[in-house]
Amino acid sequence: MAGEREFQDFVDEVTQRNDIVEVISEYAKLKRVGSRYAALCPLHNDKKSPSLSISPDKQLFHCFGCGAGGNVIHFIMAMEHLDFMDALKYLADRVHLPMPERGSPSDRKAREEKMDKKQRIYEINAEAARYFYRNLADKQGREAYQYLRERGITNATIKMFGLGYAPEGWTNLLNHLKEKGYAEHEVFEAGLAKARDNGTYYDAFYDGRVMFPIINVQGNIIGFGGRIMKENSNTGKYLNTPETLVFKKKENLFGLNLAKNSKAGRMLLMEGYMDVIALHQAGINNAVASLGTAFTPEQARLLKKYSPKAVLCYDADEAGRKAALRAGDILTEQGIKTKVLTVEGAKDPDEFIKAKGPEMFQVLIEGARPLTAYKIDAIKQNYDLNDTEQILEFAEAAAAVLAELSSGVEQELYTKQVAKETGVSPETLQAQVQILKRKQQQVKDRQQEREERRKFEERTGGRRDLKSMGIRNAERLLLSCMAEDGAVRKKVKSSGLLPEDFTEGLHRTLAEKLFQEDSNVEIQALIQEFPQEETGAVVAILLDDKNTEDKKKAAEQPLSTLLDAKRQQRAEALLEQGDLDALDQMLKDKRR
Ligand code: GTP
Ligand code: MN
Repeated sequence: MAGEREFQDFVDEVTQRNDIVEVISEYAKLKRVGSRYAALCPLHNDKKSPSLSISPDKQLFHCFGCGAGGNVIHFIMAMEHLDFMDALKYLADRVHLPMPERGSPSDRKAREEKMDKKQRIYEINAEAARYFYRNLADKQGREAYQYLRERGITNATIKMFGLGYAPEGWTNLLNHLKEKGYAEHEVFEAGLAKARDNGTYYDAFYDGRVMFPIINVQGNIIGFGGRIMKENSNTGKYLNTPETLVFKKKENLFGLNLAKNSKAGRMLLMEGYMDVIALHQAGINNAVASLGTAFTPEQARLLKKYSPKAVLCYDADEAGRKAALRAGDILTEQGIKTKVLTVEGAKDPDEFIKAKGPEMFQVLIEGARPLTAYKIDAIKQNYDLNDTEQILEFAEAAAAVLAELSSGVEQELYTKQVAKETGVSPETLQAQVQILKRKQQQVKDRQQEREERRKFEERTGGRRDLKSMGIRNAERLLLSCMAEDGAVRKKVKSSGLLPEDFTEGLHRTLAEKLFQEDSNVEIQALIQEFPQEETGAVVAILLDDKNTEDKKKAAEQPLSTLLDAKRQQRAEALLEQGDLDALDQMLKDKRR
């Protein structure tokens, strides 16, 4: 077991061996700008100008768009959505360093307990799935089995997806799992039982449902969807496992355990469990669906690990069209090339395949339209293109879609196409697109400004006037110089300025740490001392050195600003207390 010291050394080694420039270049195209690198920030939707800045010397990054910042570990935490330990492991793996055993025995015990707990939930889910599956073959599951067969599901498909039946009753599954040696509270933690106020438990799926196990890419059953067989109004058609230690419905996709092995080169994203099942049964093995909620950015990132392309196959109704547009934007934002398929003559892919067969569905897939073309087509429906006035209205509406595109090539292509269709010249349309783009950017800039001001006011506890903004900037510049130059630290310490004179919590904390440093400041160690939410703000200060070489000179102005402010505050305080002698003395000191 490694102690804290050895562990810190390991963190340092991982940080040193993973050059931040190399790591970030795996996610974004970097451009050298002076002594820094700049890039469009891969952590947020950065389309316009590169807002990510990387310092190879300091091995730090900062985005002034989304405010993220820190060292290479913080970058991976944000980019891959990992906690500190998992990001460390990710980077250790990258340079082939084995992870040491870590922490005090009690830490490790807690970690192991959590792992054990997850493992236990997987086991319970697996046992529950076996139980549900067996029920289908039993007398009590006959109706459910008939239901599935009537919906065209074969025995092979039932087996492939491990479909099952949870019979009506309050304790069927609970009893079964107790017999297998699981405690009621464990079944509760797996999300398969609910608790009553009096401390007793009952089956979460108690009203007779066809069960769909939800399996992650590692092959563990993480939860279930359950469908009622006769739709009625008092219960939802589908019921899902609630969020548990292992079931995060925004972060998983139904069917990905199968689709991840597909060689199709694209994923088909469906609305429903039944659509996924119908496609796999038809030999189309790259279908997945979100788990009873709208498609999320986390799911898009998960998809992207397996394929750079997606085809949206949502239901043919208005709700399906709207959801497809939203999912389309989310996929595009994550850099996934997205097409949209339109189901015709059936309400969803499941019914389409039943009515027209898998070959016809393949035809639909091949005919899927790129998202932009789909959006423009959708708008076109609303206008009569024989009417001049309506043609112009269509051109304007289409320009709004074109203005959202981040790819210049795509924009040019579609601009030409819309120009052709409307008879408006491409140049005029392009000009309109540019105007809209600028407007959109202004709106975004203003939003960002407001957001920054809000965050600032939240930090400082109120609005600030110009003067206190000046003080804030002086504090930041001084802190950045202090971090770089021991001579500046010495000078500040002897000037009488104290860490508590700094006006913001973060500035005070940073000042305190810098006041303690005698030799060189180890910036990497310094920022590790801050919690993850604060590293962005700290790095923003550390990297904002105003490009000055001579730190001592650069520190003069802010230091005198802060000392003046301190004196004035003291003078005001003395005046208020009526201590005129002390005030007099102070003014004399100042003149000297
Ligand atoms: P069938 O009606 O059996 O063909 O199911 P479907 O998969 O086609 O479902 P539908 O298109 O009605 O809904 C799409 C998806 O939304 C489903 O697969 C579920 O994940 C989810 N869903 C639908 N109804 C409900 C509900 O009442 N509650 C919850 N939590 N999710 C639902
Ligand atoms: Mn359906």
